[in-house]
Amino acid sequence: MQPKDALSQAECRALKSRGVPIAVLTAYDYPGARLLEEAGVDWILVGDSLGMVVLGYPDTTSVTLDDMVHHTAAAARGLKRTPLIADLPIGTYETPEATVENAKELLSAGAHAVKLEGGTSHSPQISALSRAGIPVMGHIGMLPQSVKKEGGYKLKGKTSPEGDALVADALAVEAAGAFAIVVELVHPDTAKRIRDAIGIPTIGIGSGSECDGQVLVTHDLTGAFPWFRPKFVTPMASVGDTARLAAESWVKSVKDQ
Ligand code: KIV
Repeated sequence: MQPKDALSQAECRALKSRGVPIAVLTAYDYPGARLLEEAGVDWILVGDSLGMVVLGYPDTTSVTLDDMVHHTAAAARGLKRTPLIADLPIGTYETPEATVENAKELLSAGAHAVKLEGGTSHSPQISALSRAGIPVMGHIGMLPQSVKKEGGYKLKGKTSPEGDALVADALAVEAAGAFAIVVELVHPDTAKRIRDAIGIPTIGIGSGSECDGQVLVTHDLTGAFPWFRPKFVTPMASVGDTARLAAESWVKSVKDQ
């Protein structure tokens, strides 16, 4: 199957109904993407978390479309078969027309699909992408591009009305044609409600285990960004410490000559 075809709504509904868990990680460059493909990751996301873990910004709100195109092209060069999804960065999906135009740039760089943040409010953009034949992944719950407005990364769906609104968002995103939805920092009970309410997979991050798949920022998983780690992540390696030690040893060997 072609990577793009794996990201059709029909294919993803079938995955969900067979109960196949989906493992998604982020990559921002050639070695990162190639290593994840070799590890058997199902889908790779060029997330706008790029802004923090690669470009050194405090959040995702400075990431531009040019940044995303540059890094998507690098990640795409590392892949042979894995579906590649790229984030539409802030300010690039204000209208349905702009959304399609900007998504096409990410596809030209090698992405097979795009992701955007927002629920009911962004149905027109998701519908426009679907009509243009561009696979799209939704993203609801905590929306990192709204972190300044929100005043931090806060758990969503803690109350019943908040949960109802998130379920309505998920239904709207599905009806507009998305093939899957990232559910970020949502109370686990609400994440389960969302998963049970829709026919496309939910891909959780910081939302408990009752999701159809999970996504993490690879730098959090591998310890490659040791200066900050979200509470819900247990790193499985210490890549940052290993790299620092290697550099220290090499510096010492040069100085000792
Ligand atoms: O930008 C990103 O990496 C993301 C994931 C954390 C879902 O949106």
